[in-house]
Parts: sequence; C-alpha cells; structure tokens
Amino acid sequence: MIQPVILSGGSGTRLWPLSRESMPKQYLELCGEGSLLQQTLARLAPLGAKEPIVMGHQAQRFLMAEQLREKAPEARFVLEPEGRNTAPAIACAALLALADGDDPVLLVLPADHGIDDTARFCASVRQAEPLAQTGHLVTFGVTPTHPETGYGYIACGEALEGGFRVERFIEKPDVERAKALLEEGAHLWNSGMFLFKASRYLEELSRLQPDMLKACEEAVANAHEDLDFLRLGEAAFCASPSDSIDYAVMEQCHTAAVVPLQAAWSDIGSFRALWETLEKDAVGNAQRGDVWLEDTRDSLVLAEHRLVATLGVDNLVVVETADAVLVAPRDQAQRVKEVVAALKRAG
Ligand code: GDD
Ligand code: MG
Repeated sequence: MIQPVILSGGSGTRLWPLSRESMPKQYLELCGEGSLLQQTLARLAPLGAKEPIVMGHQAQRFLMAEQLREKAPEARFVLEPEGRNTAPAIACAALLALADGDDPVLLVLPADHGIDDTARFCASVRQAEPLAQTGHLVTFGVTPTHPETGYGYIACGEALEGGFRVERFIEKPDVERAKALLEEGAHLWNSGMFLFKASRYLEELSRLQPDMLKACEEAVANAHEDLDFLRLGEAAFCASPSDSIDYAVMEQCHTAAVVPLQAAWSDIGSFRALWETLEKDAVGNAQRGDVWLEDTRDSLVLAEHRLVATLGVDNLVVVETADAVLVAPRDQAQRVKEVVAALKRAG
C-alpha cells in the first residue's frame, strides 16, 4: 500500500494579502472546495492508500489540526520544531514509515498545489508505481509553457516502462538557462511530487547527505507524542542541514525517473497563476465575494469583507482583505514579494 506524505510546512507570502506568515497558502481556500491542504487529502481517496503522514511546522499545528480533524481524522501529524526545508521533512517521514515494519512506497505531495482531475492524477501515480517498486526515485513531470525560474527542470533520457530516465535534474535555473532549456525541448518541469520506496530515499540520503540522515534518525528516535501530534526531537532536528529534496537529492541522484503527469497542474505561485486556474466569465474575469464589475476585463477581483467595484479597467488583480488591499497589473502580480519585503523593512 502507498504511504502518502504531505508536505505542509511552507510559509509563502506570494499571495499576500491573502497568505501571511501565520496563514500560508496551503491553509487557504483558493479554488474549489476546501483549502489546498484539504483538497490534497481528498485527492488520495481513490488510491486506497494508508493514512497520510502530514509534516508541518509546530507553529502551524492548530491550523493543521483544525483543517484535518474532519477530513483526515486518522492522519499522523508530525511536527518539525522549525523549518529545515523538504529533504529532512521527507527523511523523517520515511524513517517513521519504515518503523511501522514494512518498506512502503511513499507518495510525497506538496500541500499547496492545484490539480484539476483526481482520476488522471491517480492514474499517473499508478503508472509510476512499478518504477518506484524497482528502486527509482520517481518525479511527476509537467510540460513547460514559459521560462519559469521557480521550478526544477528535468531532461528526459531513455524510455522506461511508464516514464523516462532522468538524464539531468536542474533545480531553479536562472532565466537565461530556463529559456535555453525550453528552446532545447525534451525537458519537463518538476511538479514537486515524488514516488519512491522509503528505503531508497534513505539510501540516497546516506550517500549524499549523511549528516542530514544522522540528524533525522536522532530526531525520530527522540520524538514524543503530544496530544494529537508527534513532535520530532528538537535539538537533533534543528542540527540538520537545511535543504530541499531537489538540491539535496534529485540533482545528484542517478536512479531518478520521471512520469509525465496526466492532469492539469498549478502550484498557484502567484495571483496570475490563480487567475489562470479559476473559472472566468465571458470577458475573462475571475471573481469571488461581494464584487461589482463594470466594463472590466481579464481581471482577478477577490473581496473578503467589503463590496469591491471596478470600472473601466482590464488585466488587474484586486485583492481586498480585512486589513490590506492589493491592486496590481495582472502580469506583474508576482512582484508582490517586493511589497512584502518593503513592509517588513518598514516594520
Ligand atoms: N513539512 C515541511 N517542512 N514542508 C515544507 C517545508 C518544510 O520545512 N518547506 C517547504 N515545504 C512544503 C511547502 O509547503 C510545499 O508544499 C512543498 O513543501 C514544496 O516547497 P516549496 O518551498 O513550495 O518549493 P518550491 O515551490 O520553491 O519548489 C518545489 O516545487 C516546484 C513545483 O512547484 C521544487 O520541487 C521544484 O523543483 C518544483 O518545480
Ligand atoms: Mg511551491
């Protein structure tokens, strides 16, 4: 049986003012029913998988518990004392899964992505399973559409059953390199979802990141139950090097494979990406809440607390919340991080 591992420890602010440090993207209801975390869990149902292990930060434990109590009452909540990025979080999940007595295939899923078609997503997972069973570290690839610098790129090699060997894995290239990879063709984006046997991930880690593995082994050995949570050993976990699975393992692994993801996928990394995933009216507007659009086109307008009216505008993002309002051209919405940084500096 597949063991799902949900990564829910990110603290993005790219969707400010909706997302905040205390309210990261995965806990928001952005598209469809329920938060992105809840939708990630719902997507697992047809797989008949084990109860998920949800990895998150201790500071977010109440949000996590509240959102999961209804949807996944049997899930195991594992708390990291502070963020050490995804490679150690996955290592601790793999160690916990192995401690249960078998060596399951782990399905590692970010908690903050949008996927349109559950059946197709599950079909891709099934397609990848034989590759994972034979020891490959499988990632799910997405056809690139633009020279995005926030993603990993995968050069596809020889065909394997159900997928391709990963010839090269390039995490977050600069824009020149991203353009070159796109022009070259035969590259896929890394969706950030993975499938591999717990033991295979740990083997790669012991070869590539022995200090990280040692710290995670100690953190799991010193873990203790606290109400509904399992708290990892604090001193050991905080001593782990901080790195993502992409840099720490995938870029240097010789047994990686990629399976093209059959479903439409978005990491909803900006308001532009959110607008792209949402349903739009005949003139390209996506809206939510108490909104009045007059002579407005191709815009995203979200209202949480007040009536928001727009008039004679196009290609805008307008996001209204209780304490902050953002207005920006849609194609510059990713620059919201500049506002967040400036506000932080200003105190
Ligand atoms: N538990 C836990 N602990 N989860 C974490 C941590 C952590 O310290 N840090 C990040 N996460 C979670 C995030 O919430 C997200 O769901 C997932 O792990 C991936 O982390 P991101 O920080 O969002 O990574 P990224 O978007 O920059 O890059 C990754 O995803 C891209 C696709 O969206 C990489 O895998 C790229 O290669 C990939 O293209
Ligand atoms: Mg991400």
